Amino acid sequence: MNTKARVAGLVLLGFAAVAPVLAQEGADTYKAKCQMCHGATGMADAGAGKAMKVKPATDPDVKKMSEAEMIKAVSDGMGKMQAFKGKLTDAQIKASVEYFRTFAK
Ligand code: HEC
Repeated sequence: MNTKARVAGLVLLGFAAVAPVLAQEGADTYKAKCQMCHGATGMADAGAGKAMKVKPATDPDVKKMSEAEMIKAVSDGMGKMQAFKGKLTDAQIKASVEYFRTFAK
C-alpha cells in the first residue's frame, strides 16, 4: 500500500470513530438546551416552543437557512432565542444544529 492510500485509510478510520460521538453530542446538547423550545422532533409542538410560536424545522423559512446561518442564529441569538455563544462551545452549537437539521428532512 502506498503512503497516500494509507493516510486516506487512517483518515477514514478516524472519521468513522468520531462521527457517532459528534452525533451523540448533538443529540445530548439538543435535548438539554434546545428541546424545551424546539420540541423532541423539531416541531416546537409543546411547552415553551408552542407558547412562543417557534417555527417547526419543516417550515419553509427554516428549511431555506443554511447550516452556517443556523449556527450564527444559535450563536448570536434570534428573536426570543438567547445567544448561546459562551454558554455552549462552538462544537456543541454545530453538533446541536446538525441534529436539529435532521428533523427538516
Ligand atoms: C427559549 C426557547 C429557545 C431555546 C432554548 C432555543 N431556541 Fe432556537 N429559536 C427559538 C426562537 C423563538 C427562534 C426564532 C425563530 C422561530 O420562531 O423559529 C429560534 C430559532 C432557531 C433557529 C433558526 C431557524 C428557526 O427555527 O427559525 C435554529 C436553527 C435554532 N433556533 C436552533 C436552536 C438550537 C440548536 C438550540 C439549542 C442550542 C436552540 N435553538 C435553543 C427559541 C429557542
